[in-house]
Amino acid sequence: MEQFHYKNNELWCEEVNVDEIVRNVGTPVYVYSRRSIVDHCRWIEQAFGTIDHLSCYAVKANANREVLRTLAHEGIGADAGSVGELYLALAAGFPPEKITFSGVGKRNDEIEFALRRNILSFNAESEEEIQVLSDIAGTLATTARVFLRVNFDIKTTTHPYITTGRRHNKFGVDSSKALSVLRSASRLPGLEVVGIHSHIGSQIIDEETFIAAAEALSRVASNLRSEGINITQINFGGGFGVQYRNYITHRLLPLEPENPEAEVTTVRLLQAILPILKKTGCRIFIQPGRSIVAHAGILLTKVLYRKQGDGKIFVIADAGMNDLIRPSLYQSYHQIVPTRLVENEHEIVDVVGPLCETGDFFALDRRLPHVDRGDSLAVLCAGAYGYVLSSNYNGRPRPAEVMVDGDTFAIVTPREVLEDL
Ligand SMILES: Cc1ncc(COP(=O)(O)O)c(C=O)c1O
Repeated sequence: MEQFHYKNNELWCEEVNVDEIVRNVGTPVYVYSRRSIVDHCRWIEQAFGTIDHLSCYAVKANANREVLRTLAHEGIGADAGSVGELYLALAAGFPPEKITFSGVGKRNDEIEFALRRNILSFNAESEEEIQVLSDIAGTLATTARVFLRVNFDIKTTTHPYITTGRRHNKFGVDSSKALSVLRSASRLPGLEVVGIHSHIGSQIIDEETFIAAAEALSRVASNLRSEGINITQINFGGGFGVQYRNYITHRLLPLEPENPEAEVTTVRLLQAILPILKKTGCRIFIQPGRSIVAHAGILLTKVLYRKQGDGKIFVIADAGMNDLIRPSLYQSYHQIVPTRLVENEHEIVDVVGPLCETGDFFALDRRLPHVDRGDSLAVLCAGAYGYVLSSNYNGRPRPAEVMVDGDTFAIVTPREVLEDL
């Protein structure tokens, strides 16, 4: 069950009316449902059944400390993409033996920090990085457990900026080189090669792409084994797509006619790949980010002005691209709904922010119920890659973050003030 819903035509998060948050905390504000985070995490865990695995939440998707604490409490692991994320994961209570470290450009000090905390493993991206891992582990008289990230050149239909598994992308080593890289790595001191890793991109919604990636990963794992490289673990990465369009349906809301994500669920995607990955006999790792937190968050914003442009109506919100950059950066779709629904006619509008950039928009030519100055809007499915990508651009303090728990809510990140700039 999803945790954002209408009751008497008013939007609620769990048992909290979101307008109460607007009144108490102001806008723009991110609102998260703890129950939703837990539900999404448990759905994934249940999909594995008895299969030996570790899900490592990709901290980059939402690094709010309370979100991290909630997931650490669920007993899953974490994948950090920097020493900062590693620090946050440890502070939130993820045990080092459940933390992995990804990233194409790990600095020496980051590697040293991770080795001193004895994290579970590194997802290494190049031969040179493997050598550096061995050198630093040697200096610290410890061992770096390493997965090699392999690039299988898998074609995806997701936005080019969030495709990571094509040959021309900067990530991983070409699958044809995996054997020689791992053969050299297995001879290095201070290093234990434990497996191979892949992550082909984000917001992937078709099973066929995932099946192709799972088959490629399994094929390389068995080739390596037949060549004497003892792979015991495989990491499939993240990228499980989620539904953004028509996330909430209601008699008074317009329906998006095109809905490519309608049937997508992480469980369904997992059910497509797990039988393939399981056959390898390896322990299976995944690194989901978006699929755990996207549906757990919304961004609340107020309408500042309406403006009639040349053949266009602009709805100018008090949140902008500095608060949620996904539409500007990746042309991402977010459903936008009024927090109170009335029997208003629908109209086609651009929902834009106040920044001095034409790219500062949340929706272009979007059918929405008529809204006026002072009305509150909710930008839905904003729990992933939302606040973490926010900035102070245009001298704008970052928004607040609120966590809802049943019928209560708390500010977990205060709104920045001018002195924070
Ligand atoms: C290495 C790696 N793992 C996991 C993720 C999480 O991806 P998603 O949020 O799509 O699940 C990312 C995101 O870019 C990533 O780069």
